[in-house]
Amino acid sequence: MKSRRYVPQRYQLKKEAAHAVLTGHPWVFRSHLSTAAGVFRSGQWLKLVDHANEILGYGIYETEGLIGIRVLKRGKNPPDRAWIKTQLEKALAKRTNLKTYTDAFRALHGENDGFPGIVVDVYRDTGVLQTYSDAVDTFGRYIGEVLVEMLGLKSLIWKFPVKRQGKKKEVNFRRLRGPIPGSLTFREGKLRLTVNIGEGQKSGAFLDLRGLRKWIAAQSWNGLKVLNLFCYTGTLGLAAEVAGAAEIWNVDVSPGALEFAKKAHALKRDRHRWIAADIFDWLPSLPKGEKFDVIIVDPPSMTSQVAQVPRALNAYREIYRGLIPHLSTKGMILACCCTSRIPRKRFRMEMDKHLGQRLKYSRTIEPEDDHPVGFPEGDYLKLLVYR
Ligand SMILES: C[S@@+](CC[C@H](N)C(=O)[O-])C[C@H]1O[C@@H](n2cnc3c(N)ncnc32)[C@H](O)[C@@H]1O
Repeated sequence: MKSRRYVPQRYQLKKEAAHAVLTGHPWVFRSHLSTAAGVFRSGQWLKLVDHANEILGYGIYETEGLIGIRVLKRGKNPPDRAWIKTQLEKALAKRTNLKTYTDAFRALHGENDGFPGIVVDVYRDTGVLQTYSDAVDTFGRYIGEVLVEMLGLKSLIWKFPVKRQGKKKEVNFRRLRGPIPGSLTFREGKLRLTVNIGEGQKSGAFLDLRGLRKWIAAQSWNGLKVLNLFCYTGTLGLAAEVAGAAEIWNVDVSPGALEFAKKAHALKRDRHRWIAADIFDWLPSLPKGEKFDVIIVDPPSMTSQVAQVPRALNAYREIYRGLIPHLSTKGMILACCCTSRIPRKRFRMEMDKHLGQRLKYSRTIEPEDDHPVGFPEGDYLKLLVYR
């Protein structure tokens, strides 16, 4: 925090940009910046003023991409160490209730917790930091270190989110503190889940699916046949097994994820089937009479830009059309969507359209306390149950 980049430089916002800050949005889009911003380097802290030179807040400048400034703080006083500590304490306080249920949680959820582009997941005594822009790399490391102290963690790993990872087979994480734990088992209610720290997607596991795992594990699915599509390391399949499911078909395109799933997330192995396949090829080849009582559909985001939304919606249509004939008479579908580019209302509308003739919307599984939603684009995960 000693570098010049943390001495906020004055930057006068244009009207739309000032509006974004005043209304509490954490991003100022590059298209709303004046050419004067061109002198700043990535990661430069800015004092954001309006046309009358009133200080509106403080932000971090980014040189590339749609986001030009990530807003860190509103109001006249600059962010200092004490303010940062207080904000982190507030974020951790929101998560207190989770501790009785799990020892793995998202300690910091980026913009939604007021720390733009910085995510920290905790698995027992290991923190996994992810920074979503080079502009917040150094600040993120500082935040990670502060959290290590606050939470008494042993290790801190800095993992690069998939979209920032190199194309070559290279190590996509760095050790910042303590030993690299490798494989680590954590607790989630009745479930014991395993994560390979530094490997795989997100911070290694989908902590945001905890609410769905909890809901599934609490069902009475005795004797039911479950199809778990886009299963990754099979944590939802394990929850289905705990709910009593007799047969669980887990499908994913990644053989590595399935290998891991087989070893880590099946207690009664004879109940599970593992299918390494592209679901768009596999589904049409599924024999006509094959029926499932529960179908879980958790596809990848498929959209990093709004322009990709129609393609994602077409993919949904293809999947659900293909699935309906394989649903047993009293069957249910758990439909997941993990992109904020498809807003909640739109996803519900699409699902009603594809499933409405056979099923009724039953409920939504809301995000848990460690995945707060602080702004519209932060509302990415939708989990709907249709019966
Ligand atoms: C959102 S993750 C699923 C997380 C998972 N439900 C869990 O419980 O952890 C999406 C998964 O879809 C898989 N995937 C992506 N495209 C696929 C495709 N065309 N066919 C099969 N699997 C695919 C990825 O390998 C990834 O594991």
